[in-house]
Amino acid sequence: MPERAIGVFDSGVGGLTVLKELRRQVPGENLIYLGDTARVPYGTKSATTVLRYAHEAARFLLEQKVKLLVVACNTASAVALDGLSESYQIPVVGVIEPGARRAIEVSANGRIGVVGTEGTIRSGAYERALRRERADVIVHTAACPLFVPLAEEGWAGHEVTRLATREYLAPLLAEGIDTLVLGCTHYPLLKPMLQEVVGPQVRLVDSAQETAKAVAAQLSTHRLQGQAQPASSPRYFVTDIPDRFERVGGAFLGEPLQGVTTVSLD
Ligand code: DGL
Repeated sequence: MPERAIGVFDSGVGGLTVLKELRRQVPGENLIYLGDTARVPYGTKSATTVLRYAHEAARFLLEQKVKLLVVACNTASAVALDGLSESYQIPVVGVIEPGARRAIEVSANGRIGVVGTEGTIRSGAYERALRRERADVIVHTAACPLFVPLAEEGWAGHEVTRLATREYLAPLLAEGIDTLVLGCTHYPLLKPMLQEVVGPQVRLVDSAQETAKAVAAQLSTHRLQGQAQPASSPRYFVTDIPDRFERVGGAFLGEPLQGVTTVSLD
């Protein structure tokens, strides 16, 4: 088992922020990434549809004989994590619990903001995860549907992004939050802008970093640590033509992205 790869999936390029952290934090692991680019975005779709997509993605990765599954998408984690964990025999790690745990650790006043896609916010998954950690936490959430296209457009420092960020975050800041959870895999790209708008007194929690830590812990608990030295390059699969994934994904990964294979999940 330990020499098998870790399977990571997302609706598209966003999960590459998690993959990047995995490469940094668990460098001895082989990684297989699946971006469901034919059906992105998940964030605007119903829970029933996202649940079906998540199971199809998981089954594809299981066919690749992965030893652990990372649901590197907040929307899919919000609606499908429990079902995936119950359905398959390998450990399944989502992005919501790790981010929520960290937010509780760093918040001094117990007032926590969460930003994410419409699907993630509507699901209430972050409120539940935060309350499990601390019953009296006060949670303020905001769906920020423009952030995904802005991040993919490479507009992290653009004036349009600044205006959108101010608009989305003003109600949360008015509630006195001291911590903001980036509840979408695209948002780490917007971190400098988000920090600028919320100011230095608000801590940002990046679920990509926290998820990679949770994966390292699961590998250790289940004695699944890989010893690849150095690990081979990740294998990339997408469900649509690879061009856009390679171009936009390179920016998410911080290095050129090549060798992407198109597959069908049907
Ligand atoms: N990866 C998704 C998430 O983290 C954002 C993109 C989408 O809507 O599919 O929620």
